[in-house]
Amino acid sequence: MYPVSRHSQRLGLRELATDDVDAVLAIYGSREATEHLSFEPRSREDVGQIVARSMASAIASPRSEYALAVVEHETGDLVGFGRLATDPHQQRAATLGFALHPRTWGAGYGLETVHLLLALGFEDLELHRIWGARSPLNHASARTMHRAGMVEEGRIREHVLKNGKWRDSIVHGILSHEWDAK
Ligand SMILES: CC(C)(COP(=O)(O)OP(=O)(O)OC[C@H]1O[C@@H](n2cnc3c(N)ncnc32)[C@H](O)[C@@H]1OP(=O)(O)O)[C@@H](O)C(=O)NCCC(=O)NCCS
Repeated sequence: MYPVSRHSQRLGLRELATDDVDAVLAIYGSREATEHLSFEPRSREDVGQIVARSMASAIASPRSEYALAVVEHETGDLVGFGRLATDPHQQRAATLGFALHPRTWGAGYGLETVHLLLALGFEDLELHRIWGARSPLNHASARTMHRAGMVEEGRIREHVLKNGKWRDSIVHGILSHEWDAK
């Protein structure tokens, strides 16, 4: 499916463009925003490559990756990065990821972003299961996924290598019939 265009009350999802590098860098280059993510703050060059790869994967056929800009309607600003990636070894399943600029935290944008990604996955892509993995210390993400109806399913031990240390991940998941019932 290309291009993606999905909207909620205050936010929209759209495809990434070359011009988005600085706005994505403001998130992925931020120590605060990446504290609990699987990687250290990214450089401008890294983010340039991420945006280029995302744009290339958007027009691949079949498409397995939906790396998207989260845009605020009021300002037109890119305020977040959202991602759905279909699972190559499972039927109709995908992992979800999301990160927002710290200046937007605490206003419900995280929940709105997760809802947009779940709507894309279940309503447009007809997935059966969507799951996300977070750091055990990422309580903000736990609250957001819980509020979105994503059930805590368990722990993947030593899942992520960061700063030379392995850390566990906590998995949250939601099924299509749970989404339909919401
Ligand atoms: C995780 C993250 C996306 C949460 O973003 P957020 O916008 O603050 O999250 P939410 O939408 O859940 O809202 C959070 C708070 O806003 C409050 N809020 C304020 N106005 C609101 C509104 N209009 N609607 C809904 N909630 C609102 C909520 O009550 C909630 O409060 P609480 O956390 O104290 O319970 C954000 O912290 C982030 O980008 N972190 C870095 C990247 C990251 O960790 N990503 C997840 C990887 S697994």
